[in-house]
Amino acid sequence: MKFLILALCVAAALATSPDLDQEWQMWKDNNQRKYGAEEEDFRRFVWEYNYKIVTEHNQRYALGHTTYTMAMNEFADLTSGEFTKKMNGFVMDKVPPTPANSFTDVSALPTMVDWRTKGWVTGVKNQMQCGSCWAFSATGSLEGQTFNKTGKLPDISEQNLVDCAMKPSYNCHGCEGGTMNGAFQYVHDNMGIDSESSYPYQAEDKKCRFNPANVVATDKTHTLLPAMDEKALQMAVAMVGPISVAIDASHESFQMYHKGVYDEPMCSQTLLDHGVLAVGYGMEDDKAYWLVKNSWGKKWGMKGYIMMSRFNNNQCGIATNASYPLV
Ligand SMILES: *[C@@H]1O[C@H](CO)[C@@H](O)[C@H](O)[C@H]1NC(C)=O
Ligand SMILES: *[C@@H]1O[C@H](CO)[C@@H](O)[C@H](O)[C@H]1NC(C)=O
Repeated sequence: MKFLILALCVAAALATSPDLDQEWQMWKDNNQRKYGAEEEDFRRFVWEYNYKIVTEHNQRYALGHTTYTMAMNEFADLTSGEFTKKMNGFVMDKVPPTPANSFTDVSALPTMVDWRTKGWVTGVKNQMQCGSCWAFSATGSLEGQTFNKTGKLPDISEQNLVDCAMKPSYNCHGCEGGTMNGAFQYVHDNMGIDSESSYPYQAEDKKCRFNPANVVATDKTHTLLPAMDEKALQMAVAMVGPISVAIDASHESFQMYHKGVYDEPMCSQTLLDHGVLAVGYGMEDDKAYWLVKNSWGKKWGMKGYIMMSRFNNNQCGIATNASYPLV
């Protein structure tokens, strides 16, 4: 029944076009979708609504009015609300952050950084339909710092965090969302975290099965960067390595981002819902960007990555709640 009501709402706003039948079929085949009869109608309406957004956006791109493209990716049959509920999961602080005055001089820093080329970053992972982004963001910066310490890049278990980082003070709730700082605190208190291979990802809350014999990383403490200070973030990305950041990823433009420098004027600096990993920065056609590793698999964005606007008024809050562990 819920499908039906929503479907009617979308139907009113959209006239169905028979030309799209074939594309819809192709998209379903490519993305292995099989729906029940009632859901099929609803998904088709959502897909077509998204199709319109993506097509219009890419027309604007062709005219040079925007710096990135969108794609009818595997998330194109989800409404924005469904998607953010399923896929994000950064739990925001109740106290709004106060912007820091930057004293950071970035003039001496390299103009481009990409830690992937230095062996500091594991392959793109996939959180699937579980709000565990915070765990992926935290393992990402732990992996980088551990590589610097030991010379070996560990693949660190997110499931260990999802199942075990449960103290109220961590503000982590498995697939229901969490914080990177809580994850770091858990690894510290727990005196380590297991490897991905010994504790593989399952995309749902399970019983804690941490095993000290399989520890591949530890955490002495963690550092919060000054809030809303992109210069401090640039300094950290250049000098420290991959940094855990929280962003506003609630927009359709992010859900169906394809490539180019993401620029979303509707993005919030303070309403953050997604944890990701800043692994570098650079310039593309005069547009400064942050190079960001997401945890939605390799099919999303640029092989799992996104270039997000840099020095564009802290867009999407990328510098609002950035942190990294000391290992
Ligand atoms: C970020 O969030 C944590 C809690 O998750 C909070 O303690 C911290 O003060 C926030 N601000 C910054 C700049 O990290
Ligand atoms: C890596 O580790 C070394 C030795 O502890 C340290 O001097 C350096 O600042 C660390 N970070 C980077 C980015 O090399």
